[in-house]
Amino acid sequence: MKGTGLMSLMKFSEITQSWRIEGIFTNRDWIIEEMNNIFQDYFNRFRSFHIINTQTEQKVYNLKFPTRKMSFAVKIILIVLTIYTLSTLLAGQLTIPKKQLQEKLLHLKRSPQFHNPSLALKVLQKLDVFSPVEEHYFKNGNKSRSNYHQPLLGLKNDEEYCEKQRDAFVKNPGIVFDEMNVLFDIGRSHLVRNKALPQIGNDIQPTIGEHMSARDWKEFIYDIRPDVNIFWTSRAMNEHKHLGKHFSCLSQMSNHLLGRRELGRKDYIAENAIAYAKNFKSRPQCFSHDKFFPETWLLYEKEDCQNFFKILNSVEYEETKKEKHIVFIRKIASASHRGEGVQPVDKAEEEDLKMIYENGRKCGAVDKNYIVQTYVHNPLLLNDHKFDFRVYMLVASTDPMIAFYHDGFLRVTLANYDASSSDKKVLLTNLALNKQIYDDVKGGHLYEGMDEESLKQAQQWSYQRLQDYLLEKKIITDPNWLDNYLRPQFKKAMIHLLRMTTHAFRKDRTTFELFGVDFLLDTNLNLWFIEANSGPAIGGYSVPMEKFIVKMVQDHFEIAYGILKSRMKRVLSYVNKIIDHNEAKLDVNGEIEIRDLQAKEREFREISKNYFEREFEPSLTNGFKKIIDANYEGMKMYQGLVEPECL
Ligand SMILES: Nc1ncnc2c1ncn2[C@@H]1O[C@H](COP(=O)(O)OP(=O)(O)O)[C@@H](O)[C@H]1O
Ligand SMILES: [Mg+2]
Repeated sequence: MKGTGLMSLMKFSEITQSWRIEGIFTNRDWIIEEMNNIFQDYFNRFRSFHIINTQTEQKVYNLKFPTRKMSFAVKIILIVLTIYTLSTLLAGQLTIPKKQLQEKLLHLKRSPQFHNPSLALKVLQKLDVFSPVEEHYFKNGNKSRSNYHQPLLGLKNDEEYCEKQRDAFVKNPGIVFDEMNVLFDIGRSHLVRNKALPQIGNDIQPTIGEHMSARDWKEFIYDIRPDVNIFWTSRAMNEHKHLGKHFSCLSQMSNHLLGRRELGRKDYIAENAIAYAKNFKSRPQCFSHDKFFPETWLLYEKEDCQNFFKILNSVEYEETKKEKHIVFIRKIASASHRGEGVQPVDKAEEEDLKMIYENGRKCGAVDKNYIVQTYVHNPLLLNDHKFDFRVYMLVASTDPMIAFYHDGFLRVTLANYDASSSDKKVLLTNLALNKQIYDDVKGGHLYEGMDEESLKQAQQWSYQRLQDYLLEKKIITDPNWLDNYLRPQFKKAMIHLLRMTTHAFRKDRTTFELFGVDFLLDTNLNLWFIEANSGPAIGGYSVPMEKFIVKMVQDHFEIAYGILKSRMKRVLSYVNKIIDHNEAKLDVNGEIEIRDLQAKEREFREISKNYFEREFEPSLTNGFKKIIDANYEGMKMYQGLVEPECL
C-alpha cells in the first residue's frame, strides 16, 4: 500500500515516511484494534507516524522507529506500547467518522475468500451437519417446553434458514468478517442497543422489537437476514427455534445457552451444588458447600421439607431467633426476580409456611416451588446499609467451555439495616425494590436531600469505593485487597459454579451467555453465593456506572464476535485446503466426493470447536478476564486458580 491508501483520513507521506491520521476518535478500543491490524501489516513500510488533532492542528503524538532493521519482536512490543500510550492520550480527543474509515479499511483488509465458492458450499453441506437438540434441555418440571411450531418475535421458523445462511457466507465471507451485525428483540432505547452497540456494530433488523405488537408475537412475519452475526435477545430463542436450523447457524452466535437453568434457577443450582460438594468430601479445602452457599432446603422434596419443619419447631430455633431475628429466607425457585419472590422468614412468613405445609405434615404434597435458605445474618454493612455484589460472568463457549470474569458493582440499600425489621427494602438489596422512591424523585421530589442521580450513586458503588471505605474503616489493611483477595475469590467461586453445571449445558459452538452473579460479603469477609441470573437486567445506572457497564457490554460483544470470527476463519481455510489439495470433487452426477470423509468429518469437528485465533483475541483493554478455557488441561484450564489437588 503506497501513498494515500486511506485517502483523506490516514495519509502516508513518502517524504517523511510517516502517517498522518485525521479526525476525532471516540472509540478508543476500536482504534487500537484497527491500528494494530494496520501496523502489523505495514510496519515494514513506514518509519514513523504522527497523529494530529485536526481542530487545533497540533501534533498529539509522534513516533519514530529508529531503524527498519529492528527485530520483529521489538517492533511488535514498540507498536503495542505505542498504541497503548496513544490510546490513553487520545481518549476523547480524536475521531475518525467510524463508518467512513471502516469502509476504507475494508479495501485494505479484504476478508478471506473461498477459492471455489460453489464447491466449497458442497463441502460444507457435507461437513456442517445439523444435530437436533435433545428434548431434555427443555425440562420444566416434567413438561417438555420445546415448541418449534410456536412463533417467537414474529420471526419465521424457516427450515432452510441455515442452509441459505451457509450459502450466503460462502458467496461472501465478509458477512461474518467485515462488521458485527446484531439482531435484537429489546427496545430501541435499551442501553445495550442504544449506547453500547453503535460504536462497535450494526443493528441489523431494527424493526424487530420496534413493531412488536401482540399480533407480531403470534405470527411468522419476518425473515431473518443471512448476515446476522449475533442474536442478542432477552427471550431465549432456542426454546422456540431450532438451534442450527432456524437460527444460530455455524457462522452465527446467539446469547442463550441450552441448559442455563441449571445455573440460573435457585432450586437447580442448589441441587447441583449439593451434588458437586460430594466430589470434595475428602478434600474440604477445595470446596465446602457450607462456606459457599447458604444451607438450602428444597421444600418440594419431602425429606428436605420435613427436616426443615423439624428445625422450625425446635427449641434451638427459638433461641437463635432471639439473637439473629431472621434465621431463614424463603424463595420461589423459578421465574421470580427483583426480590419479588423472596421473603425473609419473619413471624408472618413462619405462620404462612406452617399453614401451607401443615407444619410439615403435608411435605411432599404441596405443589409449590419453594426453597428455604439460611439467612446470612451478619452482612458487612456500609455505613449501616446492607449491600450485595452484582458481578458478571461470560460463558463465551460451551464447546469447549470458555468463560470469563468481569468486575461488577455493589448494590447498596437506601434504608439503614435492622435485622428485626420486616421491610424488604431493609433486608434485601435488589435495586428494583426502590422503584417507588425513584418514581417520586422523578416527579421532582428529593429523597433525603438526594435527586435521582445522587440516589443512584448512593446505591451503586464501584469496587474501588468499597476498598477505600474498608481501608478507611480499618476493616482491611491491604491497599491491593481487590486484586489480592476479592477478585480471586469471585473468580474461584465462578469456576465452582461452572464446574457444578458444565455437564448441564449443551455443548454448542454457537451459543454464549452473560450472567449476572450475586454475592454477599459477611463481617468475616466471607463471600456467599446468592444466585446467578441469566439475562441480567442492564439499565438504570448512575452516570459513572453506566459508562462502566456500556464498556462491559461492548467487551462481551468483542469476545463473542472474536470467537465467531476465529471459528469461521478456520472453517474457511480448512475448506480451501481440501479444495486446493484436490480432495473434494464432483462425480459424474454432480455429487460431492470427499477423500477420506470420516477423517475430514473428525477434523472439521475439531477446527469448528471454539478457541481464539490470535488476531481475534480480546483486546488488551477488554475488562473480561479468562477463568476457564477447556482447550487446555489441568491447572492451565483454570488459569492457575484451582490447586492441583482440587482438579
Ligand atoms: N441467604 C441470604 N441471606 C441474606 N440475604 C439474602 C439471602 N438470599 C438473598 N438475600 C437477599 O435477597 C436479595 C434477593 O434474593 P435473590 O435470591 O437474589 O432473589 P431475586 O431473584 O428476587 O433477586 C438478594 O439480592 C440479597 O440481598
Ligand atoms: Mg437476585
